[in-house]
Amino acid sequence: MTRKTVTVFGATGTAGVACVNELIAHEAFDVCVLARKPGQQERSSSGMTRGEAAKKSQYDAWASKGVTIKTVDSTLAEELIPALEGTDYLVSCVPISATESQYPLIFAAREAGVERFVPSEFGAIYEFEQFWPTDTTHRLMARQKAFIRRTIELAGLDYTIIPAGAWPEYYLLDPVMVMGDGDTKVAWSSGPDVGRIIPHVLAHPASRNAICPVAATAWCSWNELLEERERFLGRKVERVYLGADEWRAAYAAQAPGAIKTLLAIGVAVTDTPAGMSLFGNWNATFLPEFKGTPLPELFRDRIEPFVAAVRAELIATGELPPDA
Ligand SMILES: NC(=O)c1ccc[n+]([C@@H]2O[C@H](COP(=O)([O-])OP(=O)(O)OC[C@H]3O[C@@H](n4cnc5c(N)ncnc54)[C@H](OP(=O)(O)O)[C@@H]3O)[C@@H](O)[C@H]2O)c1
Repeated sequence: MTRKTVTVFGATGTAGVACVNELIAHEAFDVCVLARKPGQQERSSSGMTRGEAAKKSQYDAWASKGVTIKTVDSTLAEELIPALEGTDYLVSCVPISATESQYPLIFAAREAGVERFVPSEFGAIYEFEQFWPTDTTHRLMARQKAFIRRTIELAGLDYTIIPAGAWPEYYLLDPVMVMGDGDTKVAWSSGPDVGRIIPHVLAHPASRNAICPVAATAWCSWNELLEERERFLGRKVERVYLGADEWRAAYAAQAPGAIKTLLAIGVAVTDTPAGMSLFGNWNATFLPEFKGTPLPELFRDRIEPFVAAVRAELIATGELPPDA
């Protein structure tokens, strides 16, 4: 593969940081980061955000490793276009709640002669899920992401779509609400493994103008994942198995907020007989050498701290009772 310059947007987020770090380590890529000017609207997938000081030290660390940092107003074509000149692949890692921030980026990428756009996807196969029967906040997000892909094609850019299944750290608050029967294999990709796998997908020729659904961390059932967690914690993990009617009822009864967003995903997974298309293990075929983080390490370093932080956040916002 000829050497490519990759620019990452949303670089200081979970997937973004891991993606930039892996790009630096990968021999095929030169790396640029688009840094948004301080003061621009700040969002995140989890509701927890990073401050300017943390971002600045991250940019400094990357710059010392040869990464080019370009600071822009990410809403202005006049600033985005020159910043993207010389980019071959543009990877967007914007959070779930800032999907629309990619529109100016697509236009600027086209004007700047970027070859390929990798939109921030990293969940289900939204081409299917956008047509699911029940109207939820998650289906709206799926429709937005599918529309972004159409816009990329309209702009005449190549694309790579990377569905990554479920990020386990988002779904393991006790008692765990299992989506579906618990025995079907699904794709699991923790946020950092999502970021890590992106450069390897891009370096593979089969990823051009393709949907590449990966299982970056594990390809196993809910029950298998929960058994691993029980082994790690040394205790039983409480769980409930909910069918489509129960997910829909829980979603309808929940006030807007983070919990409702998660319930919408439960609706999406169980809403049709086959469930949401979380399946896909593209990496087993095309990237057999890629290894996700081993589960015990992942529970220790990522999943349990994340679950604890989410619980604390939900208690602080009043979405969970103080003794949850
Ligand atoms: N399938 C799943 O279970 C699952 C779970 C979580 C996330 N996801 C998906 O993974 C993707 C990445 O999510 P993530 O959790 O890695 O993101 P994240 O960590 O929440 O991203 C935060 C970063 O996004 C950038 N950002 C913040 N506000 C922005 C705005 N208004 N416009 C543009 N950029 C903004 C900032 O980076 P800069 O300041 O450096 O730009 C910030 O550090 C999303 O598409 C999300 O839907 C999937």
